[in-house]
Amino acid sequence: MKEPARVSASVQFIREHTKLKPRVAIILGSGLGDFADSLPERTTISTEDIPHYPRSSVEGHKGKLVFAALDEVPILAFQGRIHFYETNDLRPVLYPIYLAHDLGIEFLIVTNAAGGINRTFNAGDLMIITDQINLTFARLVANRAERSVARSIYTHSLISLAEDVAVANRIAVRRGVYVGLKGPSYETAAEIEMLRRLGADAVGMSTVFETSLAASLGMRVLGISCITNLATGISGNRLSHEEVTEVGRRVRETFARLLTAIVTEIGGRNSEGRR
Ligand code: HPA
Repeated sequence: MKEPARVSASVQFIREHTKLKPRVAIILGSGLGDFADSLPERTTISTEDIPHYPRSSVEGHKGKLVFAALDEVPILAFQGRIHFYETNDLRPVLYPIYLAHDLGIEFLIVTNAAGGINRTFNAGDLMIITDQINLTFARLVANRAERSVARSIYTHSLISLAEDVAVANRIAVRRGVYVGLKGPSYETAAEIEMLRRLGADAVGMSTVFETSLAASLGMRVLGISCITNLATGISGNRLSHEEVTEVGRRVRETFARLLTAIVTEIGGRNSEGRR
């Protein structure tokens, strides 16, 4: 079976389980999955039950699609993503994006956990992604990526929207360039210094493929990194597990407030991202 037929079969299954027609999809990064558990009147579908949906090899990854209305805006939240390093195959990484596109999603919000490279960043910061560097040494096939070369992957009006919403809600946010590496191991101090000189503000192991495909399919794309730690060599002291957990707890609440406010604001926009 070809990919479009597989995606159609997945969509058909989903349509049999929910009447909700989401406009906004949110990919929840590592440690940020909780957000979907508090959504009111949600329909949760396990990815295992969806025909043709790829399986994650990482144990404990939830793999759920959560459909809900957030302040009357119909959304789809993806809990648990598949990383490129898990399979060395882009298809399972991109499947959720094709699915979102087939479901009629107009806006994609991609979130991730990332290491802070910018020396002014702190653990616990939230960073609105302005652009990305794909250093995985893998690219989408040319015909899919063509359009994203011509314009930016991240939608300018959504970056402004997110920054305005943050100010209005008194949430401090950073902005910066996300560099995607394949991983799965963390970087050396020399690698982080190289990435800093290349213009990266934060580093992670996801996001770059999903966003570039979504943009090439015509979705409006927003990215938010949660800086869970300072990257290797940026901080002199090693963060303890307790500190990281504490940072995570504190950020989760702020992250949920920011995301909710952004989705509410997007709900009042047309598919171009304009009021
Ligand atoms: N490096 C790469 N990926 C990450 C990091 C990091 O320091 N923190 C969270 N994801």
